[in-house]
Amino acid sequence: MKRILSGVQPTGNLHLGNYLGAIRNWVALQRDYECFFMLADLHAITVPQEADKLRQHVRETAAAYIACGIDPEKSAIFPQSSISGHAELMWILSCHTPLGWLNRMTQFKEKAGKDKENAVLGLYSYPVLMAADIILYKATHVPVGHDQKQHVELTRDIAGAFNRYYKTEFFPLPEPVIMGEAARVMSLRDGKKKMSKSDESDYSRINLTDDADTIALKFRKAKSDMIEGISYDAEARPEVSNLLNLYASFRGITREQALAECEGKNNSAFKQMLTDVAVAHLSPITSKMRELLKETDYLDKVLARGVARAHAVADQTLKEVKELAGFLNLKH
Ligand code: TYM
Repeated sequence: MKRILSGVQPTGNLHLGNYLGAIRNWVALQRDYECFFMLADLHAITVPQEADKLRQHVRETAAAYIACGIDPEKSAIFPQSSISGHAELMWILSCHTPLGWLNRMTQFKEKAGKDKENAVLGLYSYPVLMAADIILYKATHVPVGHDQKQHVELTRDIAGAFNRYYKTEFFPLPEPVIMGEAARVMSLRDGKKKMSKSDESDYSRINLTDDADTIALKFRKAKSDMIEGISYDAEARPEVSNLLNLYASFRGITREQALAECEGKNNSAFKQMLTDVAVAHLSPITSKMRELLKETDYLDKVLARGVARAHAVADQTLKEVKELAGFLNLKH
């Protein structure tokens, strides 16, 4: 059976990278796969969070999933922290993960920066939790943006190490699924940096909660260059190339087709074209999200149903893993 697990950290400021790089692809895939989409709140606390805000962001992210087109009748939507198996399996997997593998993870190096001595253990061991998230559901496919590819590859290595150790084929090796022209959405202020929730400048990203005027303003102010016309060259014209990828992604066309559509346009005319497609695409999502956020009871019911479905699969996997590991299964 083909099964998907993926998730977003509920840390607020859900942006175009999360949408075009991940959530939109989930929507397309949910027809053909059994899907588990979690709110990665255990991952969120690798950096400081306020409890009330985290709770609010979990609901907000769930609302975003549904507003973007995830069907809660079809796919399970649930908070990661509601299934204790994630943390339990992480411990077992961490006993099969050499430190050398974690030392290669580029995201830890970026996030910890120069002050590695003071970085918390959770930030370092986070990829092992991500591996547990995925293989707890025996997921075969993991749709993510490009920045998470290395973590999914590590998951394959960890699952392989577990299988070899216990001489079994218990865990399938999951495939990363990276789709479309927007797998790496870059900051609107610096085309060499990825668009991110934590960037201090709100002008660096389009949030899923931005209204039409804000989107227009952010694209107008987006960095571009002095070269005439629109062309694709990720090295020499990173900002314009990023905007072109966004345009292609919103229109659902290839980069070449996008180039043909904006031939002869100058930067500001192209930015207007991009604003028009972005607003047409995003405004129904934004208004649906606003409506859903008023319906806390509905959202909580969706999450409770998601938790029940996730439990059914996760508990079975964990039971079998504990048997393999040699833990007693006592009745209480
Ligand atoms: P997170 O919350 O950073 O991002 C959620 C999803 O959005 C994608 N993404 C982007 N795609 C393109 N361009 C960008 N600028 C951009 N920024 C973010 C990410 O690749 C991701 O798919 N560790 C994960 C959450 C997670 C997870 C998992 C994902 C926890 N466990 C298991 C898959 C499977 C994270 O921090 O994503």
